[in-house]
Amino acid sequence: MSSFWSWYIIVLTVVSIIASVWLMSSNSKGSPGEIDTTGHKWDEDLEEYNNPLPRWWLYLFYITVVFSVAYLVLYPGLGSFAGTSNWTQVEQYNAQMSQAEAKYADFYARFRDMEIPAIAADEAAMRAAGNIFGNNCAQCHGSDGRGAVGFPNLTDDSWQWGGSEDAILTTLRNGRNGIMPAQAAVLGSDEAVEEVVAYVRSLSGLEASADKAQAGQQRFATACAACHGPDGKGNPMLGAPNLTDDTWIYGSSPADIRYAIVNGRANQMPAQLDYLGEDRLRLMAAYVMSLSGKTGD
Ligand code: HEC
Ligand code: HEC
Repeated sequence: MSSFWSWYIIVLTVVSIIASVWLMSSNSKGSPGEIDTTGHKWDEDLEEYNNPLPRWWLYLFYITVVFSVAYLVLYPGLGSFAGTSNWTQVEQYNAQMSQAEAKYADFYARFRDMEIPAIAADEAAMRAAGNIFGNNCAQCHGSDGRGAVGFPNLTDDSWQWGGSEDAILTTLRNGRNGIMPAQAAVLGSDEAVEEVVAYVRSLSGLEASADKAQAGQQRFATACAACHGPDGKGNPMLGAPNLTDDTWIYGSSPADIRYAIVNGRANQMPAQLDYLGEDRLRLMAAYVMSLSGKTGD
């Protein structure tokens, strides 16, 4: 906070407190019981009393003023003055976090040496994993894990980076960064792009011109097979998806496939190890595998 704004807040706060005290004391003149009127009169004999506040009520107001002054001395509140008690939100947050960490560490440590399928069969573990998924994964993969355009569906058995325990743990620990460079220049012409689009669609049994698809096959072998494999079944080492299973990250329409070829595609799964730690990651690996039915329910 700049010192101007700090002083702005300090002056505003102090003036408001003084003004409140003045307002209360100036309105509490006269003692209860005495009859005073404001001098206003309606309908000839209707007058307005000017009674002071009951004392107990007035003292409540003074107590709130004393409380606010004590509070502003002890805690941060007056501009950038930190308060004399040295209390900070960050310290309180850290203290609560380490308390929580100590409380839950035992629960998660149980899974350190447990086999993934055994974790998947543990009801308490999967309930905790469901919560972690909701807080850390659902914003990208959807609350049910079914993904969205550009974010893989985790409930099918089609894997961009591999569906083995090891592959999934590696994905979660280090993140993944799939990059497909644009291929328009490699293919050279719109005609060639259209042929490859037709061939890719034919690989998944989708409607495509047979002539174009046939012409596209040779081009695929030159421009795409290095990553997607000679038969188009993909390569989990590179995150190159299987193009033959009619399961799509970005969509199957000719326009979607054309976009991938002409502009390339790239997306990133953020590394989770630093956020979640190894114990929780084992839980999440079990959860991901159970989403696709791999560990049996
Ligand atoms: C910021 C968005 C984001 C978050 C958060 C995120 N992911 Fe991902 N995830 C992705 C993207 C994008 C990919 C695909 C990466 C690529 O294109 O190479 C991916 C890929 C994956 C894969 C590999 C899928 C496959 O087919 O091989 C798994 C498993 C996965 N995520 C699980 C998780 C879990 C579990 C969490 C939470 C702990 C999580 N993700 C959090 C965006 C995210
Ligand atoms: C250098 C490796 C590489 C080459 C060459 C390459 N791709 Fe890819 N391709 C990838 C990767 C990696 C992805 C996933 C991108 C991501 O994670 O966002 C991908 C994604 C795609 C997708 C999206 C799939 C989906 O499920 O939505 C299509 C379609 C595709 N590639 C087709 C092709 C075609 C056709 C060619 C040749 C003209 C080609 N690729 C060449 C690596 C490559």
